[in-house]
Amino acid sequence: MRAVCPGSFDPITHGHVDIITRAAELFDEVIVAVGRNSAKNYLFDTDERVELAAAAVAGVAGVRVEVLSGLLVDFCRDRGAGVVVKGLRFASDFDFELQMAHINGSLTGLETVLLPASAKWGTLSSTMIREVASLGGDVSAFVPALVAQRIDEKKRDNSNG
Ligand code: PNS
Repeated sequence: MRAVCPGSFDPITHGHVDIITRAAELFDEVIVAVGRNSAKNYLFDTDERVELAAAAVAGVAGVRVEVLSGLLVDFCRDRGAGVVVKGLRFASDFDFELQMAHINGSLTGLETVLLPASAKWGTLSSTMIREVASLGGDVSAFVPALVAQRIDEKKRDNSNG
């Protein structure tokens, strides 16, 4: 069975990679779908988020990365994916994911599997990474090496500009 792991991935973190890797063990193929949430302001543009996600999962067999535009249910139907996999950290995630699972299920019957985040990355979020990074903190323990490098480059560009 083919599964889709959708998200903004701004930027992809070790928590995301953990969920994607575990999804790849459960399903034959996993498509990481890099989408855009219109309510969010992004640090990295779509091309960068795709590039960073692709680099982060390059070593995981059966996983590929694509841009998600339009509805998630249409993306999944077009690719023959019957299930969406999302990570679940705390109760507030659940409230949102339940809503998404219900609307997606109602639209096309798309199924959702919620995987509990690993204890190690249980409260990690891209929002926290962006906040710490923007205030000069070191985020290299939480994100793949290329992401840490790109964050440093952005900080340098901003301070030079
Ligand atoms: O990491 P995020 O911000 O929670 O990811 C959200 C994303 C991009 C996965 C979500 O906004 C999404 O699925 N967008 C596609 C449009 C869609 O199908 N929305 C659900 C029905 S309202």
